[in-house]
Amino acid sequence: MNSADLDALIGQTPGGDPSQLIPLLQKVQEAAGFLSREALDAIAGHLGLSPAAVYGVASFYNQFRFTAPGRVHLQVCRGTACHVKGSSDVLDTLQRELRIQPGQTTRDGAFSLETVACVGACSLAPVVVASGPGVGSGSDFHAAMDQEKTRSLLTNLEQVTECNA
Ligand code: FES
Repeated sequence: MNSADLDALIGQTPGGDPSQLIPLLQKVQEAAGFLSREALDAIAGHLGLSPAAVYGVASFYNQFRFTAPGRVHLQVCRGTACHVKGSSDVLDTLQRELRIQPGQTTRDGAFSLETVACVGACSLAPVVVASGPGVGSGSDFHAAMDQEKTRSLLTNLEQVTECNA
């Protein structure tokens, strides 16, 4: 998202009203995919807050991202059903193979990783959801994941991200 688009989007929200902070952060993230430094500064200026205050609030909520998502964005469900069925092993495998933590993107921009609450597919637990331009439109749900299936999913997705690089 360029600066003009960012300014136009932020300008749709009344200025000087700190109560608009969370809705505005959500709106910008939805449009841009993440909250850049530039976006956080612009939001702060628009609402009359300090950049530090805006970053402090945004970083408190794990719904907000501060790095651009990868061509494939992976969400590991950490809801109760998925946790009981071993989502920790799945998350560990992804962290180890990709060498990133939740909230981060690989250096080549191929993958980003996030943990999420229940995605509403508990009968498929543990679930990994893949989305983004490297996957196509919509989200792919991967069911009953374990370490081996996670490695195999990554191998398949690596081929897709290379084609979309
Ligand atoms: S707990 Fe993972 S889909 Fe519901």
